[in-house]
Amino acid sequence: MGFDPGLRLMEPDADGIDPAFRRDVVQGLSQPHKAIPARWFYDARGSQLFEAITVQPEYYPTRAETEILAGQGADFAELVGPGRVVVEFGSGSSAKTPHLLSAIAPSAYVPIDISGDFLRQSAQALSRQFPALEVIPVEADFTHPVTLPDAVRGRPMLGFFPGSTIGNLVPASAVDLLRSMRDTLGTGAQLLIGMDRIKDDHTLLAAYDDAAGVTAAFNMNLLERINRELDGDIPLSAFRHKVAWIDALARIEMHLEAQRDLAFHVAGRTFTMRAGETIHTENSHKYDARSAALLLLAGGWTPLDEWTDAAGRFSLVLAQAAAVRMAP
Ligand code: AVI
Repeated sequence: MGFDPGLRLMEPDADGIDPAFRRDVVQGLSQPHKAIPARWFYDARGSQLFEAITVQPEYYPTRAETEILAGQGADFAELVGPGRVVVEFGSGSSAKTPHLLSAIAPSAYVPIDISGDFLRQSAQALSRQFPALEVIPVEADFTHPVTLPDAVRGRPMLGFFPGSTIGNLVPASAVDLLRSMRDTLGTGAQLLIGMDRIKDDHTLLAAYDDAAGVTAAFNMNLLERINRELDGDIPLSAFRHKVAWIDALARIEMHLEAQRDLAFHVAGRTFTMRAGETIHTENSHKYDARSAALLLLAGGWTPLDEWTDAAGRFSLVLAQAAAVRMAP
């Protein structure tokens, strides 16, 4: 029982930089519409800034989801049952996890996160809080299939994917991820997943452009990371954080907008941007009950039940790995 230092699955190259980061940034800046995958936000500073976003007054998702987790423990316990291995995808600080672990009496907890040091610190804190629980952190990119530790293989699993992180993927990638989670977790698995609701655009826009500027700093930190890790000279003061609600796609978009024509270097390449041109850095899709169910079904998960916070802003859906059978 207790804390196990876990698996290290990602290795940087000789200069300490993840080669996938260099590839994604160079490719993303070379496209006609510049875009960088949102997963690169989460270096140590990005992870800290994200934690700071979650306590901003405008950023309702964390409080709404915590309200559901804290209030629906009895329902979860009844539908999930005791003895499951809770596998949390993108665990971060594991701040919401204690509510779930206290409610359902699991046999082990496997947090998976790309940010290794942060992961191990959080896992250690959780292990102190639940001394009888086996805690086995896995440092990995959960957007790809993950090999679970031998110690838990074969046990019934509950995937936990809170925060509406699924919304950061375009639908085709979200379906791929849900399918890969189904493969990782195996037959008989359940998934408890947070899915943010479509609501008025004023509330949505404010949540991604808080008055204290924390989300702006989170977005800008990507440029700072590129400059630091990829030998870049991007002029930070020439960019601003930009947010838009795209109703037809039911998503918030975050961009970094050039304030003037400019040129810069990254990883030995030269890039130019015109004033008003943007680097697209994140999508955050929102769902209604039907689009949420449809996405889960497409990903191989059958919804069993769903809960929303009292204000109806956010939902948690419990789903079960769908049986593979012939359809008409
Ligand atoms: C992690 N993810 C669900 C957050 C979201 O709301 O899309 C990331 C975020 N980006 C800006 N604020 C929060």
